[in-house]
Formats: sequence, structure tokens, C-alpha cells
Amino acid sequence: MPPLAPASAQRWPWWPLLPLYPYGRRRTLVRELIAGQLWSFEQLQGVYYVAVPIRMTVLKLREGLLLYAPVAPTAEVRRALAQLEQQHGPVLSIVLPTSSGLEHKLPVPAMARAYPGAQVWVTPRQWSFPVPLPLAWQGFPMGRTRVLFEQGLPHDDELSWCGLGPLDLGVGTFMEAACLHQSSGSLLVTDALISIEREPPAVFDLDPTPLLFHARERGDEPLADTPENRRKGWQRLALFASYLRPQSLQVPPVPELLNTALAPGLRNPRSHFGLYPFRWPDGWQHEFEQLLSQRCCELQIAPVLERLVFPRCRQALLDWLRALGQLDGIEQMVAAHYAAPVACTGAALAALADQLSNRSWAPDGGSWELLASIDQRLLKLGLVPHNP
Ligand SMILES: [Fe+2]
Repeated sequence: MPPLAPASAQRWPWWPLLPLYPYGRRRTLVRELIAGQLWSFEQLQGVYYVAVPIRMTVLKLREGLLLYAPVAPTAEVRRALAQLEQQHGPVLSIVLPTSSGLEHKLPVPAMARAYPGAQVWVTPRQWSFPVPLPLAWQGFPMGRTRVLFEQGLPHDDELSWCGLGPLDLGVGTFMEAACLHQSSGSLLVTDALISIEREPPAVFDLDPTPLLFHARERGDEPLADTPENRRKGWQRLALFASYLRPQSLQVPPVPELLNTALAPGLRNPRSHFGLYPFRWPDGWQHEFEQLLSQRCCELQIAPVLERLVFPRCRQALLDWLRALGQLDGIEQMVAAHYAAPVACTGAALAALADQLSNRSWAPDGGSWELLASIDQRLLKLGLVPHNP
């Protein structure tokens, strides 16, 4: 009997459905964050050149390695991990630390297949949309997949685990599992807690195209690689990733868009044939500075989650931050996105919780307008629970 799906579809059950940048040319930046203890594997992922870095963190344990929030196990990633295994022991555990972050979930089945001896851990109440599929159908090896907190915690003599959630999103759940690597003082988090950097992350040195694409003012401008353009493109990308449609952004009418398309030198896929549906009037830099001004001791809550998830679970977020702040020995934070490592202490986490308690929560206007309208639409459709 023929297989139900081609082998490639079984390996990557959802990849073909998603037009994800960089369309099969994925590169990985490997950095040693703490000598002999902690490594960052960064890749770019996104849609239509709104590419944001995504990070896997590799931890050295007494007996081997733990992969936190896996990235796609390309040949480049496998080679770098093989070198670490030679020095520090085998990959023992693969952790999916989120229930809602699809970008972190997609690489897990392939990573699990690459390390058949590793135990796989996932946060509780995993879900899929629009069709609810069991984890086994999504490619997870059920014989060696366990649920964090419900079925134990991996290496809990070396790691302190602290969960946020599960929080009810209506269509699914939000859950994030942070862990403190005691020997290095590193707090690993996924999506909720971030530190947006002003300068472009080094992973874009491998391919700055997304930065240069967004640094332009019109579609008929060539992609010019200068430090200033890289910075400009990065700051605009950070606004996209934070607010989906920043307040400063304007979308030109179609005739204007077509007028600037197909300019000489830009008739290639890298330039999207000159199609560039964005205008950034003066003032966008101020919006970026405002985004950074939400930080407290370099830490901040991801705006998308602040507006779409946490309005209904504000206390849970504050409790989580304060619980993290109680963990002994935190020296730095490593998140799955943006800057890492970032200096972090228990006092800084407590200060962030205090700041969030005292400032107004994500509003409906300004930069937050599109996120607020999505939230209100979901509420109207009954797809998310009402505010308490
Ligand atoms: Fe994420």
C-alpha cells in the first residue's frame, strides 16, 4: 500500500503550507554565550521579508546537552551540535517550551528524529489550528515525548523550571516554560520576555537582505548595503514584529505601487521585482524609541502578547515575573528572540513586574491599533474569552 503522504511531507508536515523566509536557504549563526556552558543557534524566519531571528539555546548539563526551543536541524546545525557532543556529551533532552509559539514547535519533530536517543519534552495543552491534531500526527515521537510539569521536569537537579500558564486563549492556550540553568545563572525564556536591541543582530550578517529591503523608501530604490541601512531596516522590522502594523507605516495605493515596480536592476526575486508596499513618513524613528522606552532594566514584555494574550491574564504574568525574580542566582537572560545574553537579576524582574503594575496596560490606539482591532474582532466572534 502506498504511503498516505510523501516522505518529505511526513518530515515537515506543515512547512509546505507556509511561505516562510528564507525559503529553504536557511543559515545558522552559532555563538558561544558562556564558555563551555551555553550556546545560541540563531536562524531567520518570517513571511515576505519580515524576517525575525529565532534562537535555540543549547545548555551543557553534567551528562550531556539540552536543546531549548529547537531551530530547524539543517546540516549546518547538525555539524555544530556534533562538535558540541564530542566535547560535552550527547543531546539528552529536547524541550518545546511553548504551547502557542508555532515557530518553535515546527522544528521539533525533525530535531527529535535527528536525535533518536533524546527525550522530548513539551509544555502542557499543545494545540493546533484550524484543525486539532494529536501530537503524534504532527510528527512528535510519542514513545519518548513527555509533558513538562505534568509528567516531571528534566534535569531538575541542575535546572529550576517556572511555568507561565496554561492561559486560556479561546482557540487554544498560551503556556511558556522558563528555566534557570543554575551553574551559569542563565534564565531561559521563550516569547513573553524579550530585550529588543537597537542595532541589527549579528545573524543578519549572514544575509542582510531583509534589512536592506525594509530600509528603502520606495520600490524603485536599489538595495544598498550600508551600516545605516542595516540599522534602519532592523528598527523597522522590530516595529513590524512588535505591532504587525506600526502606527507610522503607510501603505501606498496600488497605482503608485505599480509605478515604482520593475525598475531596472530590481527585476529579480531578491528585490521582489520592485514591489514594496510600504511608506515610512518621518516619525517612525520616534515610534521605535517609544518601543524601546517600554523596557525596564533592558527587559520588556513582547507587545503582541501584551495586547493579545495578557490583558486577560495580567495577574498570571505578574506572578510569573515575581516567581522568576525569586529564583536564586540569575545573572543573565537568554530569550528565544532578540538580544542575548542580557544582564538580568531577580531585582530587575521584580522591578519589571512593578513597572507593569503601575503603568497603563497596552492601549487601543497609536502603535497598538491593529493589535487592538484583532483582539476586538476575536472577542466579537467569541473566539477568545472576555476580560475578567
Ligand atoms: Fe517565538
